[in-house]
Amino acid sequence: MSTKSEFASKFGLIAATVGSAVGLGNIWRFPAETQSNGGSAFLLLYIICILLLGIPVMLAEFSLGRGSKCDTIGAFQHFSPGKKWWLIGALAVLSSYLIASYYMVVAGWTLEYLVESITGGLYEGVSDTSNLEGVFTAKMDEYIATDMRPLLYTYALIAINIGVLLGGVSGGIERLSNIMMPLLFVILAVMCVVSLMLPGASEGVKYFLAPDFSKINGATIINALGQALFSLSLGMGVLITFSSYYPADARLTKTSVTVALSSLLVAVMVGLIIFPAVKSFNLDDQPLQGATLVFVTLPEIFARMPLAQLWSSLFFLLLFVAALTSSVSIAEVSIATVQDRLKWSRAKATILMLMPLFVLSALCSLSFGSMKDFTILGLTVFDLLDRFTTDILLPLISLGVCIYVGWFAPRNLLKEQLSNQGTIKSPMNRVFMLIIRYIAPLLIVMIFINNYL
Ligand code: ALA
Repeated sequence: MSTKSEFASKFGLIAATVGSAVGLGNIWRFPAETQSNGGSAFLLLYIICILLLGIPVMLAEFSLGRGSKCDTIGAFQHFSPGKKWWLIGALAVLSSYLIASYYMVVAGWTLEYLVESITGGLYEGVSDTSNLEGVFTAKMDEYIATDMRPLLYTYALIAINIGVLLGGVSGGIERLSNIMMPLLFVILAVMCVVSLMLPGASEGVKYFLAPDFSKINGATIINALGQALFSLSLGMGVLITFSSYYPADARLTKTSVTVALSSLLVAVMVGLIIFPAVKSFNLDDQPLQGATLVFVTLPEIFARMPLAQLWSSLFFLLLFVAALTSSVSIAEVSIATVQDRLKWSRAKATILMLMPLFVLSALCSLSFGSMKDFTILGLTVFDLLDRFTTDILLPLISLGVCIYVGWFAPRNLLKEQLSNQGTIKSPMNRVFMLIIRYIAPLLIVMIFINNYL
């Protein structure tokens, strides 16, 4: 398809793909998961999952996308016309859509906290430092667990996504990532330095990284796998879609290693920001779950530091930037699909595909407000979509991609894509193929068995 959009530069291609990978998964989920799953023992598992599963599965998705130059469903149809393999692509589109519906909500909270940090609203009335936990828990209830405020921010996020995505691949996604990704790394570096200079910071580093192998069990391994898939944007169709915008000379192995290592680096840097600060202010006795860690514990820390608003604004800007670039990539999957399949214009595809999110995301947002008692299978709408996508769809789709690329796609697909049709060396392709055919499916099936039997 000669009219297919492409990323305009190598930097843009990397920035956009790293931008998709680095998101709430790294900044919000990773430190809490690491801390409650055995510190560096979990980190080690996560690294193994990234190397053993993440990079090869990413390469399988890249081969499908760049090889076909099609959307997520079209990629399977391109290589296996008339067969049912496209259903894996359809599941990936569904998974991206369901993830987008709750991701917009959390991304909306990050914007709300950013605005409240800049305007000072978050720190209003905070004079007595003896009950900061209570103060910021009450603020979190007001900002997140009400109906209108978080909903408006969720809608703002969807509107920003529409604005960016109307600009298309190069003019929208790539342009946004080119600005946001360097900004993200600068903020990370500044905050790392600030946190590591706090008194007692080294204790925090130990606290974050001290391995506790007694906490490793089946559940920890599943968590590490889930974290690896989510944080690399695997099984969501994002990487098939994005790689369909890669030019013919893009080096897929190098790109996948860069993306995986950047995502890992960000996660570790975030840990090095959060844990030294938590330890320095003796807040390590609090439960460090995702939401509380970011929206209660961290504001508590900022409130005790000079220039509270500045650090708070920088941190929530970091979170917002990470969330925005990821949300855009997740929303792009369904847009690209209807553009390619139904030949809709960019504008029509963007607007019509993202409109229903205003309803779905509202249900997720209200799960913390007046719909918090509305449950299905004992879960709120938000939790249901989160669990269904992370625990079931992402591993299932990744399994499908491995089985397809390993056994049923054209025999040389991976080899040709990794070697750019034989023009560059790709010494690892046999190893990757081995992993895609045997090891990755085996690991994913074992995880399912462990999970459900
Ligand atoms: N990879 C994205 C994240 O980690 C979805 O948030």
